[in-house]
Amino acid sequence: MSVLITNIGELVTNAPRDAVSVPSPGPFDLITGAAVVLDGGLVAWTGPATSAPAADEIVDAGRRAVLPGFVDSHAHLVFAGERGDEFAARMAGQPYSAGGIRSTVAATRAASDGDLRANLAKLAAEMLAQGTTTFECKSGYGLTVRDEARSVALAAEVTAEVTYLGAHVVPPEFAGDPASYVDLVCGDMLAACAPHARWVDVFCEQGAFGADAARAVLLAGEDAGLQARVHANQLGPGPGVLVAVEAAAASADHCTFLTNADVDALASSGGTVATLLPAVEFSTRQPYPDARRLLAAGVTVAIASDCNPGSCFTSSMPLCVALAVREMHMTTAEAVWAATAGGAHALRRTDVGHLGVGARADLIMLDAPSHAYLAYRPGVPLIAGVWRGGERVV
Ligand code: NIG
Ligand code: FE
Repeated sequence: MSVLITNIGELVTNAPRDAVSVPSPGPFDLITGAAVVLDGGLVAWTGPATSAPAADEIVDAGRRAVLPGFVDSHAHLVFAGERGDEFAARMAGQPYSAGGIRSTVAATRAASDGDLRANLAKLAAEMLAQGTTTFECKSGYGLTVRDEARSVALAAEVTAEVTYLGAHVVPPEFAGDPASYVDLVCGDMLAACAPHARWVDVFCEQGAFGADAARAVLLAGEDAGLQARVHANQLGPGPGVLVAVEAAAASADHCTFLTNADVDALASSGGTVATLLPAVEFSTRQPYPDARRLLAAGVTVAIASDCNPGSCFTSSMPLCVALAVREMHMTTAEAVWAATAGGAHALRRTDVGHLGVGARADLIMLDAPSHAYLAYRPGVPLIAGVWRGGERVV
């Protein structure tokens, strides 16, 4: 059944106009006074409402804005417990440290599959209600063969973008022998997780894994058929970004502390996206990444939530867009592009993040006339409708 959404005030397409078929996201673009036709789960037509073709069902957008669904390319949703006290202590002056991850590891190991599945489903529903139609989901709070394997298996129940993050931190039982933990991550744990995952990730940071361990994890992952992504340069300068580029990773995530060499490497990488996670800086009181420096250098920038119980417990892409605009000085168009098409690039997806003909019919309607309202009206629930694969789900 085809659906015509018409009388759209502003249709953000991230796709060239009048193209018969668009195989991947293009630059930010929008059509005013627009319509879109969804058919067979795909975008079948976009253009001026005055020349829209007929369809089985008509939805009047009432001059509201329609955008591609958000593509959240970085989230840690398989966990149990919460760390509200840690957040409160941080707001009272304690610094954020990677060590907090271990308390979530303990809670996750102790949780039943049912509890983990229920928490995951709740967060996935929360994301959808806020306009996220594609999301990535990492393991990384199990850190045993059994607990990482069940984490990726649970993640695979809710998304195709599953990331094996056995190399999140060294768990306490390996504190005296981190090298053996890296061997486990690259060996039995990887073998148990790879069948459920598309990606391999490593937290390359002081207090987590150094450059050599990170390279070993990414190489082993690649040998097992997984593609690389890296947690890089979050808490201080370090080798993460260069390791990511060297591994031809799809994305280097965080990018909060970058040298000129890091920026140059990303700019000339030919495919490693810088994924910025501004809600982490909001929630840890760290300085925000310098988005303008990356954009000026020609780096492809994505924005994602990093939803996790420690450094950033929000699933809201609208909040991330607002922070990117207000705190990282991105234009409203740059931020919306980064949260849609940018996320698609970071996941090497050509079918989402844009509304070109042939794209997956994943789109959101705002209770607002333009995409700018996502930053102009921060904190206000603006998602008035969500279509996923052509079906209205919100
Ligand atoms: O992306 N940086 C590493 N991992 C998460 C934080 C995890 C936690 O604190 O539980 C992040 O910020
Ligand atoms: Fe993360």
